[in-house]
Amino acid sequence: MSGTTAESTWALGDYPEMARRLRPAADTAVATAALEPGTTLLDVGCGTGNAALAAARLGATVTGADPTARLLSLAAERARGERLPITWLHADTTGLTGAFDRVVSVFGAMYAPDHRQAADAMLRCCTPGGRIVSAAWTPDGFMAAANRVLAAYLPPPPPGARPPSEWGELAYLQDLFAPHHITATTRGVPFHFPSALEAAEFWTRTAGHLQAERPRIEAQGTWTALHHDLAALFTEHNQASSEPDDTTVLITSEYLLATITPA
Ligand SMILES: C[S@@+](CC[C@H](N)C(=O)[O-])C[C@H]1O[C@@H](n2cnc3c(N)ncnc32)[C@H](O)[C@@H]1O
Repeated sequence: MSGTTAESTWALGDYPEMARRLRPAADTAVATAALEPGTTLLDVGCGTGNAALAAARLGATVTGADPTARLLSLAAERARGERLPITWLHADTTGLTGAFDRVVSVFGAMYAPDHRQAADAMLRCCTPGGRIVSAAWTPDGFMAAANRVLAAYLPPPPPGARPPSEWGELAYLQDLFAPHHITATTRGVPFHFPSALEAAEFWTRTAGHLQAERPRIEAQGTWTALHHDLAALFTEHNQASSEPDDTTVLITSEYLLATITPA
């Protein structure tokens, strides 16, 4: 991901296809936000708008913010298609201001380079007595395991960068959001594929940061090896039937669903 911005990497590849698979997590986060008609909600790192649209369907007054213009325009297109009046902001966490009853981030704030700044922005935007809901991949879950496999093929992260999956640890969030009260539970997003190799191809096709490095990895001649390593990981984590003629893959990627209630 070196030398590229959030905008350029998240805009690359078929990330919207991955976003479709993440909708159950957005629905769960919005249900956890306990909305009432007219509740104001900010979706941080809204991407193609999964949580923002789910909240607006329930009658909330919604703002979706994301630094990736391509994803934001897909979100706006989806909202227009459903006639949902959502305000869209082209902004990362540093640019966020306002007073919202609910601040939700589904696999969004965890990708901010400065975790404490992102947490402070979410706290700043949430009214006292409101609720912040964060969904973040856990360090022991499938997404982090896949990233460890991919790391062997990618440049090292910038010095001082914190792993996004730290947001998936309760103790880390307790420190970031101290002294505010946090409750958390783990949940999972299921992914089904016809085979482990197709799963690996889906993973690389939808990962913008990997697509950014693809020409270099291909030039090194390791693009195929990368797919085989990822396919092996899918096979290792496969929860589908182990019948010899069944190639189906089912994995569940664990995330931490946390609720912070600013006093
Ligand atoms: C895994 S996607 C999740 C998108 C959406 N919330 C969903 O559930 O499909 C991560 C999102 O975080 C956004 N993002 C990356 N860096 C960010 C930052 N510093 N502040 C806010 N959002 C960021 C990306 O643009 C991308 O849309």
